[in-house]
Amino acid sequence: MAILPRCTFAIISHPDAGKTTMTEKLLWFGGVVREAGMVKSKSGDYAKSDWMELEKQRGISITSSVMSFEYNHRALHLLDTPGHKDFSEDTYRTLTAVESVLMMIDSAKGVEERTIKLMEVCRMRDTPIVTFMNKYDREALDPFQLIDDVEKTLRIQCVPMNWPVGSGVDFRGVYDFAKKSILSFKNARDPFTPTFVDASDLDAPELKEFLGERILNEFKEQMQMAEALMPAFNEQDYLDGLQSPVFFGSALKNFGVKETLDMICQVAPTPRPREAVLAPYTSDADKVTVDPSDNEFTAFIFKIQANMDPKHRDRITFMRVCSGKFTRGDKIFHVRTGKEMRVATPLMFQARDREIVEDAYPGDIIGLHDTGKYQIGDTFSMGKKLIRYTGIPNFAPELFMRVMCKDPMKAKHLEKGLAQLSEEGATQLFIRRTANEKMLGAVGALQFEVVKFRLMDEYGIDATYESVAWQGVRWLKFEDESSKSEFVSNYNTFIMHDREDRVCFAVRTEWDLRLAEEKNPKVKFYKNSDYVD
Ligand code: G4P
Repeated sequence: MAILPRCTFAIISHPDAGKTTMTEKLLWFGGVVREAGMVKSKSGDYAKSDWMELEKQRGISITSSVMSFEYNHRALHLLDTPGHKDFSEDTYRTLTAVESVLMMIDSAKGVEERTIKLMEVCRMRDTPIVTFMNKYDREALDPFQLIDDVEKTLRIQCVPMNWPVGSGVDFRGVYDFAKKSILSFKNARDPFTPTFVDASDLDAPELKEFLGERILNEFKEQMQMAEALMPAFNEQDYLDGLQSPVFFGSALKNFGVKETLDMICQVAPTPRPREAVLAPYTSDADKVTVDPSDNEFTAFIFKIQANMDPKHRDRITFMRVCSGKFTRGDKIFHVRTGKEMRVATPLMFQARDREIVEDAYPGDIIGLHDTGKYQIGDTFSMGKKLIRYTGIPNFAPELFMRVMCKDPMKAKHLEKGLAQLSEEGATQLFIRRTANEKMLGAVGALQFEVVKFRLMDEYGIDATYESVAWQGVRWLKFEDESSKSEFVSNYNTFIMHDREDRVCFAVRTEWDLRLAEEKNPKVKFYKNSDYVD
């Protein structure tokens, strides 16, 4: 049987832009869900994390981390990017495991803060992006204004593939540039049987009748401008992350979604070569590129999710296959520990179900049961190939807490607990140099609650937090030993070590950071840990 080309992608958006609604529709096209409302309950309780909802949600948080389905002769893996209170470093890191991204914009609001941050991560690997301007069934901003906003704020050229005709109560549909006709919103029932209204002649009486005079006049004006101003789609520019095809529509009404998914299936890249280093990494000469067509199996861990039973420290580790083929029962080599292991029950995911996978190919995501052996970024190979994938960094947390325990006798336990929970990647533990203080960093506030809860539940530690007004952290690289010792002694109170003992600088304010950078040209400051050994 032919292997379907893989499309491993994620949706990036600000909370409430419609990511869950879109996910549901995509799964509907993939035949995975038969009705809307299956991904998120109507009440959509985001106040608690999936983890704390454990008992109720058994299984769901795990399986919704990866949703696999087939459509238009492609095997699609949609990786979840938690966006509400459960936003965490995982959200960023998931983007290092995908080949392309669907960006959702709330058309009444334009580009919002979270999207800007996620876009920064996409830019690290020039990830190709398809854009969906959502909620046109409601009052929306002018399409030119939206496009201008995306282009200026996110620095990516937009190429509209369709164009909205009105919005809200005036929404008539979207003009398809290729077909020169309007996909009618009014008659849209089933996306597989669309109704098109010919718009090749803007003066045709039928068009006037369909749109009404006022909307037709607005549409004519916009078309003149759009055709004069908008660039043509260039597939290579899309693949290079320079240009984004843009669709207008409504996820809720399943309008314009099919066209967007068709485009993704048509142009989204199959797994691409990835950067790695030969382990142990000693110099830049050890950098290698692994092609997905390489025969030897390789994969890396991008996400670890605490699983169902805290007593058994049962976790699911998500591994992204980069090259070669994996077959159930194969022995794989864990590069960091040098151990070989046989994988008897590798998991693959559909919306709610997980099943045991027999074979996996580049682009696929495999879930492994893990009792605490693995860490984010770990590489697996076959034939004891000693490589380590790069580009799966720790991202600088933006929130910090000093962690203490009520019982001082348990200080060592606390450090162990924090270190183990941080291995899952949603929080990071730093040890402050001066006072040996334990500082917990996260990019989403809910993670602090989760850690506190789990410290009590799994380690019997009653932890207390003191918030610290730092804005971030930078990993440091020094030109030589003397620049290191000089910097460390000058900035002693702001020096911390991460779990791999890398030296970090706590950023109180942007101003402090800039000053430190200017004063110390022999020190390089990195926002993620990837470039620091
Ligand atoms: P998120 O995952 O990005 O946070 O967004 P989600 O899909 O949950 O959508 C947020 C709200 O926006 C939901 O309404 C959803 O129904 C609505 N929405 C999404 N897409 C569209 C669209 O195309 N048009 C319109 N009009 N609304 C849309 P809610 O009332 O907050 O939640 P719910 O009670 O419907 O779940």
